[in-house]
Amino acid sequence: MPEVYNWQLGRKMLYPYEERHPKWQFAFVFNINRCLACQTCSMADKSTWLFSKGQEYMWWNNVETKPYGGYPQFYDVKITQLIEQVNPGGQVWNVRVGRKHHAPYGVFEGMTIFDAGAKVGQAAIGYIPTDQEWRFVNIYEDTATSMRALVENIDKSGFTRDEPWRLSGSSLPEHETYFFYLQRICNHCTYPGCLAACPRKAIYKRPEDGIVLIDQNRCRGYKKCVEQCPFKKPMYRGTTRVSEKCIACYPRIEGKDPLTGGEPMETRCMAACVGKIRMQSLMRIGEDGLWAEDRWHPLYYTIRVEQVALPLYPQWGTEPNGYYIPPRHAPRGYNRQMFGPGVDNAIEKYLVPSRELLAVLQLWRASQQIVFRYDVIPGPKVFETQIHGKRFDMYNDTVLGFNKSGKEVARIQVEEPIYIRPAERVNWL
Ligand code: SF4
Ligand code: SF4
Ligand code: F3S
Repeated sequence: MPEVYNWQLGRKMLYPYEERHPKWQFAFVFNINRCLACQTCSMADKSTWLFSKGQEYMWWNNVETKPYGGYPQFYDVKITQLIEQVNPGGQVWNVRVGRKHHAPYGVFEGMTIFDAGAKVGQAAIGYIPTDQEWRFVNIYEDTATSMRALVENIDKSGFTRDEPWRLSGSSLPEHETYFFYLQRICNHCTYPGCLAACPRKAIYKRPEDGIVLIDQNRCRGYKKCVEQCPFKKPMYRGTTRVSEKCIACYPRIEGKDPLTGGEPMETRCMAACVGKIRMQSLMRIGEDGLWAEDRWHPLYYTIRVEQVALPLYPQWGTEPNGYYIPPRHAPRGYNRQMFGPGVDNAIEKYLVPSRELLAVLQLWRASQQIVFRYDVIPGPKVFETQIHGKRFDMYNDTVLGFNKSGKEVARIQVEEPIYIRPAERVNWL
């Protein structure tokens, strides 16, 4: 099997196809700390693409409650356990390695879904969820249950009990009861499990933007993609007998929406986000297959410079292009298991943000057009305090966002302006 470089793992790994990269890569950052689980994103997606017969159970965008929920139920616990069964005790990170650009989180020394798949004669290790597991898109929503309940439910799922929070060498809980929301779409992975798995070669990654699509004419419904995408994002449609998945609203990315006059526009789920937790863009890929250095790109800055946003389950090896600012209140062990060893740095940076990071974070949902570059105009100091013993100064800087053509599409101040309604406009008289 060929070897490919996975920078999130800090090393080469096995993958069924030779390394090849698109010119640009669809990527996004979700700030978990701000999500209110309003499900507006899920409904925007549903009402755009998923309202037809046979698609009733499909949610290409879903927001699940962790650690109890999941769509399909327990997908992440199950995948993690399947790998652990092949490589007991070996799912560890070596964080002492300090190659900044090529291995920012250290080196993962365990098995990916592809390594574990090779051991069982598959492209990637996986399973097909049962109908029951697809039944509730967000079971336990807003229910802070204890870890005991989670264990009891895993017992019911037929998988081993085996202390799920101790997987991958993490330990939980600091306090037993907590929850947060995890927003999920297809990660348009650099090394997609779905693409590796399909015996029909019906899945492809677009060279122009890295979006992963299922060719509806080639697909024969083998469901290997459903089995071997660890994030469980391809979904089988009984009425057409082929599988479907998130298409990253590609007509909008291509600038085909009349609203933007030909400029790339964010997906429906991103644009609808009420909590302003989502930002999406396209990253230019360099000759070495990594993101080309682009210091003034808001996602490059957030993910590669500040490293405040992290990939979801990087240890699975697909190099997902979805990134998350981890929940600061959830136990670190659980966070590390989900987002890798970069969690401590990310939370520290988020709790006491640098002047520039605070400004850049204002760009989330500031424009429906995709922002490719930012700039910051310095403003006066407006506040100072201590956070966790560290000095924090707040400046009322103004952040600007520019679209692909370099036109300004966003201008936001760090301090929200207050408008006092003039007396003649008061509406309670
Ligand atoms: Fe494929 Fe799943 Fe990755 Fe999407 S998240 S590209 S469906 S492996
Ligand atoms: Fe969370 Fe935004 Fe979706 Fe609402 S629209 S559930 S705030 S991601
Ligand atoms: Fe291939 Fe999945 Fe269709 S495995 S044939 S794309 S159902």
